[in-house]
Amino acid sequence: MIVEIKDLCKDYVQGEQIVPVLHHINMQVDEGEYVAIMGPSGSGKTTLMNILGYLDVQTSGTYLLEGMDYSHATDEEMARIRNEYIGFVFQTYYLMQRQKAWENVSLPLSFRGIPRKERREMAEEALRRVGLEDRMDFYPRQLSGGQCQRVAIARAICTNPKLLLADEPTGALDSKSGLQIMEIFDSLNRDGVAIVMITHEYSVAKRASRIQYIYDGCISDRDLRPRTEDDIK
Ligand SMILES: Nc1ncnc2c1ncn2[C@@H]1O[C@H](COP(=O)(O)OP(=O)(O)O)[C@@H](O)[C@H]1O
Ligand SMILES: [Mg+2]
Repeated sequence: MIVEIKDLCKDYVQGEQIVPVLHHINMQVDEGEYVAIMGPSGSGKTTLMNILGYLDVQTSGTYLLEGMDYSHATDEEMARIRNEYIGFVFQTYYLMQRQKAWENVSLPLSFRGIPRKERREMAEEALRRVGLEDRMDFYPRQLSGGQCQRVAIARAICTNPKLLLADEPTGALDSKSGLQIMEIFDSLNRDGVAIVMITHEYSVAKRASRIQYIYDGCISDRDLRPRTEDDIK
């Protein structure tokens, strides 16, 4: 099991106010599994994803990554764990505008102290996996939204993480670019990468091996969404 979450709660503290967001979450992700997370806006999906990705910590309960509990790790240790195990893809790419595609991809490798020449080769390999090896020296502004997201995916996978986390990766894309991203995810998953992906679109979620729902901070296997046209696509 790569991810095991037990009785996890998360409260945000906002001034004097405590805002409970996640309630007693239990969830598991097996090695190489592909899980989609769906739920209404504000239900706590991003909060859960940030905890999974060590960008935030739970208030109580446990999160085991490959059986290890890192909840008391320092910021530095968390950064190292992220770098070693996890790739993260966001809706809005978060690319550095002044860095070329390959330089963006190689950022997690700089963190590991890998020399520039080797970084470029590894970035090229990752860009090849997303079909952008011919855009190595392009800046983000010279790329389409879909291509930027593919660069962001290359950045997430250049370290060969076992777990890929994606928070609405197709949310800002047209359907054709979105489909390309989904095909890349399918192929990464076939190569053994476990994926946890948040999405609003059922047609996207359906590609995962399992859909997990969140309502008001509680996890559920049941689909309580109102039917939409997207469901029958
Ligand atoms: N940093 C924060 N401080 C206080 N409340 C927050 C913070 N981040 C998110 N929230 C609250 O937590 C709830 C869940 O947010 P979020 O996880 O972003 O939902 P989703 O991704 O499902 O739309 C929302 O009510 C939001 O207002
Ligand atoms: Mg969100």
